[in-house]
Amino acid sequence: MVITPSSRIYIAGCGGMLGDAVYKEFSDAHVKATDINLCEPWLSRGDVRDPRGMRESIEAFKPDAIINLAAHTDLEHCEREQEDAWLTNAFGAENLGSIAQGLGIPYVYISTAGIFGGEKEFYNDFDAPNPLSIYAKSKYYGEQYALRSVSKHYVFRAGWMMGGGPAKDKKFVNKIFKQIAAGRKTLEVVDDKLGTPTYTVDFARGIRRLLESGQYGLYNQVCGGSGSRYDVAVEFVRLLGLERTVSVERVSSERFQREYFAQRPASESLVNMKLNQRGLNVMRDWRECLKDYAETYRMVLETA
Ligand SMILES: NC(=O)c1ccc[n+]([C@@H]2O[C@H](COP(=O)([O-])OP(=O)(O)OC[C@H]3O[C@@H](n4cnc5c(N)ncnc54)[C@H](OP(=O)(O)O)[C@@H]3O)[C@@H](O)[C@H]2O)c1
Repeated sequence: MVITPSSRIYIAGCGGMLGDAVYKEFSDAHVKATDINLCEPWLSRGDVRDPRGMRESIEAFKPDAIINLAAHTDLEHCEREQEDAWLTNAFGAENLGSIAQGLGIPYVYISTAGIFGGEKEFYNDFDAPNPLSIYAKSKYYGEQYALRSVSKHYVFRAGWMMGGGPAKDKKFVNKIFKQIAAGRKTLEVVDDKLGTPTYTVDFARGIRRLLESGQYGLYNQVCGGSGSRYDVAVEFVRLLGLERTVSVERVSSERFQREYFAQRPASESLVNMKLNQRGLNVMRDWRECLKDYAETYRMVLETA
């Protein structure tokens, strides 16, 4: 599909860190953005667990495509509130996928590198998943539903998401930043978990590129390069210009076992084999992306 100012794009779960970038990426089109968390004036309420409400909201808008970003991404929340996790990540995905199928329009679903079991270091698009946690299992259901039941599907597997800035980023970079902003001089960071950072701005560009290509399918879509949480923290501190005042110390994940009790694979590093082969890979190296992203945080520190 060609995206023009008259294209109608429905984005569910658009109040989060990826939603921020996706909303901006499609700002030249006619967008309806919904979420259960009305953190922006441009959002209206839409709960993906409510099939009837979603159907009415989507059908009234008459979209040309649906992008589903709604999820519970906190792994510990998913272990504690398993029914909510399944209803949001799996049933919600089924609801939106079946509406897209009924309307005969493209459907975008975001899965996760966390569906792999960590038996090896790098996973391509064809490797066999082995989801360990409730989060991973519920997301895996969502992607499988799209692959099997929605003809015009784009399923993207993302890695360690970074984006949205201090107000929206719920993940690693912002957790590190909060410690720095609170005055911590020593950061303890795990070095035994490997993955591929995934910048929301590039990722949103990739969604648009695929939608415009018409090449339906399942795609790994992560930044270039890989590393450990420790590597990301060291680079972030360096980009903030704080390497002399803040030290980053390696620890094993056992150190945070009580707080982060959901099972995580030792490696969830992806390679974008299919995007590369099709010439559709827009993702930059994670260090280059983190450099852009760290600017937001540098400005916060400077004005503090
Ligand atoms: N974050 C990552 O590291 C990561 C990695 C791989 C894949 N992904 C996937 O990327 C997609 C976007 O996630 P994100 O990183 O942008 O996470 P996010 O910041 O948590 O955004 C998800 C949004 O969905 C909302 N939501 C939760 N339950 C909902 C419901 N029932 N109906 C409608 N909206 C609901 C959330 O609201 P609340 O804030 O109120 O919960 C939040 O605004 C998700 O499919 C996620 O699984 C994320």
